[in-house]
Amino acid sequence: MSTAVVVLAAGAGTRMRSATPKVLHAIGGRSLLEHSVRAARGADPDELVLVVGHGRDEVAAALARFDARARVAVQEHQRGTGDALAVGLAALPAIPRTVVVSYGDTPLLTERTLVDLVTGHQGGGAAVTVLTAEVDDPTGYGRIVRDDAGSVVAIVEQRDASAAQLAVREVNSGVYAFDGALLAELLAGVGTANAAGERYLTDTVTVAVARGSRVATSTLTDTWQVRGVNDRVQLAELGAELNRRTLQRWMRAGVTVVDPATTWVDADVSLGEDVTLHPQTQLHGHTVVGAGATVGPDTTLTDVTVGAGASVVRTHGSGAVLGPGASVGPFAYLRPGTHLGAHAKIGTFVETKNAHIGDHSKVPHLSYVGDATIGTGTNVGASSVFVNYDGVAKHQTTIGDHCRTGSDTKFIAPVTVGDGAYTGAGTVVRRNVPAGALAVSGGPQRNLDGWVVRSRAGTAAAAAAQRAAAVESAAAAAAAAPAAEVSTDAVAGVFPADWVAVPLEPPAPTDPLPEAPTEQAPAAPTDPAPAAPTASGGTAQTGAGPGPTATED
Ligand code: UD1
Ligand code: CA
Repeated sequence: MSTAVVVLAAGAGTRMRSATPKVLHAIGGRSLLEHSVRAARGADPDELVLVVGHGRDEVAAALARFDARARVAVQEHQRGTGDALAVGLAALPAIPRTVVVSYGDTPLLTERTLVDLVTGHQGGGAAVTVLTAEVDDPTGYGRIVRDDAGSVVAIVEQRDASAAQLAVREVNSGVYAFDGALLAELLAGVGTANAAGERYLTDTVTVAVARGSRVATSTLTDTWQVRGVNDRVQLAELGAELNRRTLQRWMRAGVTVVDPATTWVDADVSLGEDVTLHPQTQLHGHTVVGAGATVGPDTTLTDVTVGAGASVVRTHGSGAVLGPGASVGPFAYLRPGTHLGAHAKIGTFVETKNAHIGDHSKVPHLSYVGDATIGTGTNVGASSVFVNYDGVAKHQTTIGDHCRTGSDTKFIAPVTVGDGAYTGAGTVVRRNVPAGALAVSGGPQRNLDGWVVRSRAGTAAAAAAQRAAAVESAAAAAAAAPAAEVSTDAVAGVFPADWVAVPLEPPAPTDPLPEAPTEQAPAAPTDPAPAAPTASGGTAQTGAGPGPTATED
């Protein structure tokens, strides 16, 4: 066996003050554990062992979700990093030529660094090669102690260090490459004579020097790579640095990030060329954005696929697939199972879930589309609701190609609307609509003249109605006798006798509110006034006949 990596992750992580094991806290959409193990796996070892202890079941289960090949070794008691490595070694089926050690809480360490460490170590013939870094503030790290000739003689922990040693800025990263044949012997030489009473892995250096073996170092200039997470302040710092690096990588690959300070892109997100990310955009999980698409401002997408050239503005989405050239938002809520076709549209204040919306189809305004399949070239009018839930089960609505459904249509699922069909404004669709039909529900409109003055006397509405009636009567009188002068006295007298104001009383429950029945038989073809759809843009057209006039944007 050539190489094995042992990743140490048994520590308690007390300073996180968390019910979640430290290595399962996440930055960039991946746990610290996943960052560490993926880097280790990237070095292509023959074996990878994760040493677990605190939260072992949770940590091992998390590992299995992204690396099924890794071995797990349990360190029952956390007696130090040297003890942890001994536990990890015992899980290996054979002694490898090189054993690499890394930590589960050091998420910015790259696979490149590990590969270079192994290559340098195997070419150098040392018993151990220590990955070190020169840092501005070495507090908390083990210090690299060298002799006058510059050779490493020891690694001294913060709490065991002298004043002179504390001043050393070259620190131990905790990552090493060991000669596999020597490692057991080196570990056997490590005691517990230190301030913590633990078996320090760092003491293998002193043991190696004592037996006359060479200790080499490989020094990183990118000090972020050695930084571990001990508390949530460091979690945020490393999260921000990871994001900065991720954004730089994408900008160099041809993505415009208008405001890197407010843009967050997870490690597993994929972006195409000429994508533009506007401020306050967060792309999480396995979100994919196709070439030339625009996302944001103020948009959060998790596991969403955005097609090439699509536009997503002020939107919250997860588990959705948006076709090329599609348009979403502003103020859209895309829930899992949303599939929007090519050049299709989900507009403003629209919520979608388990909704397949075909190419060139549009749901432009104020609608809920749940458990639905909509064909191609169809327009769903403003304020439509796909009534998918009967309180017990969810039901499906299917709408065909090139339909025009009127504003405020309610689709009571399960229901089907055939190709090319229309629905009138305010239609409650309870029965299937055949292809090419116009569905209307509710009867012809009835106007109960004077109802407000009679039943809501004393209100501002009643007063306004009275003024309007007076003006109308005066105008009618003037038209009848153009030459006559109309006195204001005359106006008072023309108010219709049946509009007699009565004092305002709260409507009794039995108040016979004169409203049309909500359900009626479908209007006859000769119905002089079928409920024609009103324009979803708000401009009801006059003189256009009884046909639907819904706008399509
Ligand atoms: C360790 C090093 C220190 C180095 C620093 C870099 C030792 C003695 N010290 O210090 O020189 O500068 O890392 O970050 O090695 N762990 C176990 N089992 C144990 C103890 C620890 O699995 O019994 C794991 C922890 O989960 C963690 C890693 O080993 O992932 C490091 O342990 P930690 O206690 O954080 O070591 P440091 O004090 O940071
Ligand atoms: Ca640490």
